[in-house]
Amino acid sequence: MNHAPVRPLTARRTGPLRGRARVPGDKSISHRALIFGALAVGKTTVTGLLEGEDVLNTAKAMQALGATMERTGEGAWSIHGVGVGGFAAPREPLDFGNSGTGCRLVMGAVAGCPIAATFDGDGSLRKRPMRRILDPLAQMGAKTEESAEGGRLPIRLQGARDAIPIVYRTPVASAQIKSAVLLAGLNAPGETTVIESEASRDHTERLLTHFGATVVTEPDGKHGRRITLTGQPELTPAPVTVPADPSSAAFPLVAALLVPGSEVILENIMMNPLRIGLITTLREMGASIDVVNARSEGGEDMADLRVTASPLRGVDVPADRAPSMIDEYPVLAVAAAFAQGTTRMRGLQELRVKESDRLAAVLDGLHANGVTCAIEGDDLIVEGAARAAGGGTVATHMDHRIAMAFLVMGLASEKPVAVDDTTFIATSFPDFTPMMTRLGADFS
Ligand code: S3P
Repeated sequence: MNHAPVRPLTARRTGPLRGRARVPGDKSISHRALIFGALAVGKTTVTGLLEGEDVLNTAKAMQALGATMERTGEGAWSIHGVGVGGFAAPREPLDFGNSGTGCRLVMGAVAGCPIAATFDGDGSLRKRPMRRILDPLAQMGAKTEESAEGGRLPIRLQGARDAIPIVYRTPVASAQIKSAVLLAGLNAPGETTVIESEASRDHTERLLTHFGATVVTEPDGKHGRRITLTGQPELTPAPVTVPADPSSAAFPLVAALLVPGSEVILENIMMNPLRIGLITTLREMGASIDVVNARSEGGEDMADLRVTASPLRGVDVPADRAPSMIDEYPVLAVAAAFAQGTTRMRGLQELRVKESDRLAAVLDGLHANGVTCAIEGDDLIVEGAARAAGGGTVATHMDHRIAMAFLVMGLASEKPVAVDDTTFIATSFPDFTPMMTRLGADFS
């Protein structure tokens, strides 16, 4: 549980943002690099790891389950893994802090092993639904020994003595559900298959292949995928270079678009096609985002992005784009508040179960800052203006992305925007405030 003191912050209208910035390593890949390193036989080296609280909690969990880890430099880690099926029962509950990804992926990894572990987290994570993970894991032979009401944390999970390979269709497009099933399937004999009707981020599949497992991905329907893992592989250590996180880059990127006269270069951004829905959408809105120096490294596409302040216009964002930009809606909603006309973001039901109810938090934050907006069903509708009013205080609800999105808003709005707590920014982007300040942001 997190008892850190509350740290409010105010963002004020500022002159142009300028310069180059390197945002931290991708959070999704960082969690997975540690988990797969812990499941490989021998030493895995990782560079560019995001050293945010979420990922550090996954590192602690891997150590509690028997892996050895050493930090050898900034973002550089070496991991001595225990092999698939080699986890030992942890003595203490595993505390994942604010991180749904860490908790759910490790639940999958534990579910395939004959050990029991207790999973816990902070006040935000204790509210998040875990049944979506526990249901398929039960089909694979794991048992939930105890859980709070509604399948919430804390949960004691007893992994399967002999994990059962299954074919599982995910009820929502979620890389966390897919990954939990595949991680449990690692220690099951035969083939474990996950079918998703909308493709979600594929870092688990890519990294499993990188570590020598056999993973076959086939199309399923118009936007879906069928992913089959051959169980009980020996995972072979392979070096992982973590590219910069496009979901963190979204904040300086939108700030540079909104603050007149800005030009910012964001370096080494991962351009995985399943992660760049925000760039597609902002370009449709009229944003000037140049992809410079596109390359491929360590199995992922990467590029530098040159972002120039641009007038934006409202657009209709289709629901089938949501999985490729699911974490970017808070900051897209802020961009929409500065766009000419109406932006409709469709199919956002999953935002209700993130670190906070992001649909409600964004609506309240925009209202507090004089923006006309509404929720219709699962759609968020924002009426833009060339310069949003600001002047409000935003409740961040233990949610890093709500805090960062509204600080970005305050850099371009008429009046300052205050957020009630920035503590949770450290979960994904510990250097956010100094980095933005170096680019010219006025935070105090
Ligand atoms: C993540 C998947 C997404 C995303 C989260 C990271 C992952 O969640 O919101 O920040 O690394 O697998 P869902 O899979 O629940 O959509």
